[in-house]
Amino acid sequence: MEAEVKHPLMSERDLFEAIEGSMRTFIAGRPLPVSLIDAISYAIFSGGKRVRPLLSLRVCQAVAGKQGYERALPGAGAIELIHTFSLVHDDLPAMDDDDLRRGRPTLHKHTNEAMAILAGDAMTAMAFELISVQVEDSLIAQRLTHELAAATNAMIAGQVYDTMGGQDAMLEPIEQLRQTHRHKTGALLRASIRMGAIAGGASEDQLESLSIYADAIGLMFQAVDDLLDVTQTTDKMGKATGKDASQGKLTYPGLLGIDGTRGEIKKLLTQALEALSSFDSKADPLRDMANKLATREK
Ligand code: IPE
Ligand code: IPE
Ligand code: MG
Ligand code: MG
Ligand code: MG
Repeated sequence: MEAEVKHPLMSERDLFEAIEGSMRTFIAGRPLPVSLIDAISYAIFSGGKRVRPLLSLRVCQAVAGKQGYERALPGAGAIELIHTFSLVHDDLPAMDDDDLRRGRPTLHKHTNEAMAILAGDAMTAMAFELISVQVEDSLIAQRLTHELAAATNAMIAGQVYDTMGGQDAMLEPIEQLRQTHRHKTGALLRASIRMGAIAGGASEDQLESLSIYADAIGLMFQAVDDLLDVTQTTDKMGKATGKDASQGKLTYPGLLGIDGTRGEIKKLLTQALEALSSFDSKADPLRDMANKLATREK
């Protein structure tokens, strides 16, 4: 019997290009004022890492094989639209009041506040439009829509906790922190992973394991973001650093210190990797991504 030829999964660069191309075509085709399309394009095509869409595509490949990624593209673009809307609004003067994002002036500095608010609004609707227009299977479209809508609301709840408090008062501070981070950052990462799985036709067992992976990645991602806010330069990050403490944010380093935060990141990485134990080598890119996200420097 001939040995099975192992085809490596596509490179991250190729997947990245597929995401960029798909979003570019969709955004350019919307019947909206040129100024609004320009503002949205400025925010979207500006050097984001595309962590969420890449996770979505890699999960889909882990479940459905190399070419499976194509099925996850609409959901992946939709998540990046919601994520970018969240960043544009996060940077507004009423929220974190930041001037720099992805290495450039924030959208409200580049245009004006009204345009930044409206571009965020439009990106939100566009995300759902993208799924409804491009996902042919109506049951899958409905499940993706549900995942993304629930995650968007959870992200917004997290932004409320982050900027105005209101977390469950019975919880210890570390649990209030986790509640905030699970919402403001974890929810969209969880949706990215679950949507990739749903698009790929994952079984209930696979979805369950991937959701555990996702929850660990979600908390870990914001723990690293909090850590980089105190350890990294503005130049390297392409966004202001050293601001969380001065804005009174509840953060991992603020509660656990730098070493404690590193310990937490390590623990969450282990949880993420363990959740993939039943997956074969098609999940190796997900293992790599977990490791890279734990040690990222920007
Ligand atoms: C920044 O997200 C906001 C957080 C949820 C921590 P990313 O670090 O993924 O930002 P981009 O998309 O690469 O700019
Ligand atoms: C952002 O958290 C979370 C969302 C945008 C939903 P941060 O406020 O920590 O993100 P950065 O550090 O500005 O990217
Ligand atoms: Mg914020
Ligand atoms: Mg911010
Ligand atoms: Mg931050």
